[in-house]
Amino acid sequence: MSIVNAREIMLEAAQGKYAVGAFNITNLIQMEAVIEAAIEKKAPLIVQTSVKPSKFLGRQVLVAIYRTLAESAPIPICLHLDHCTDVDYCKQCSDAGYTNIMIDASKQNYEENIRQSKQVVEYAHSVGDISVEAELGTVSGVEDQIKVAEDEAALANPVQAAEFVERTGVDIFAPAIGTAHGVYKTKNPKVDFERLGKINQILNGSGVKTPLVVHGGTGLPEDYIKRLIEMGGAKFNVSTELKHTLIDATYDYISGKREEYDPGKIDIAVKDAIRGVVGRWIDTLGSTGKA
Ligand code: 13P
Repeated sequence: MSIVNAREIMLEAAQGKYAVGAFNITNLIQMEAVIEAAIEKKAPLIVQTSVKPSKFLGRQVLVAIYRTLAESAPIPICLHLDHCTDVDYCKQCSDAGYTNIMIDASKQNYEENIRQSKQVVEYAHSVGDISVEAELGTVSGVEDQIKVAEDEAALANPVQAAEFVERTGVDIFAPAIGTAHGVYKTKNPKVDFERLGKINQILNGSGVKTPLVVHGGTGLPEDYIKRLIEMGGAKFNVSTELKHTLIDATYDYISGKREEYDPGKIDIAVKDAIRGVVGRWIDTLGSTGKA
């Protein structure tokens, strides 16, 4: 039960009105920390990498470590490729053993987004038990190499969303609803809850088929998260908070122990900090004890 695609754990989450945490990692210590936190919480988990760390660490290396850790874990774990704008790299990661792939052609025009998303769906499904995520509209902010100016950000149109899902065959769907990558500049970001609810009603009103993804988890107030889950959000992506935690924990440790030269202790400090953050997210998403 340990190696799964994203759709199967999200289907259960959407039906049970909780969400699965999807945590972006940039190194292997983070991957271990995220998995350990989810095991402690007995929660289903999505570990994700954007394209830059996937290429830097090597997709085969990432998959090998994911498989080793997930195969012996008592919880279901998915390995997801996040925001990939390159169809060929989506195919390579499908071949390597990622179990969920996000083709992000949301900056292309609508027809081109459909064409590329469909191509990845067909390929990933031919390779094996891999689910595919695509985005409609644009989530503002910065993620990996993709920068989107806020005024460019366009929200997903619910009717078009239904047509998009139908024509592409995507397994899970990320509509732009006003959440943003990075740190929110205001305490009360403008998020269109009703839009997510409407899309969920159209796609999943007569039984969950295409679970929904919420991007831009970092900094979302807790009441927003609960309401987004009510509206159908079944996967929450969290990246910036983990990057900040990694860097802050490293800095704090080294600043306090400037004379010490023991890298393993820095890794332990980072792991403890990441485990804490991930554990809190899992509690907030309601996925504690759901594995
Ligand atoms: P944050 O960096 O805002 O947490 O967003 C993460 C994300 O949506 C990755 O796809």
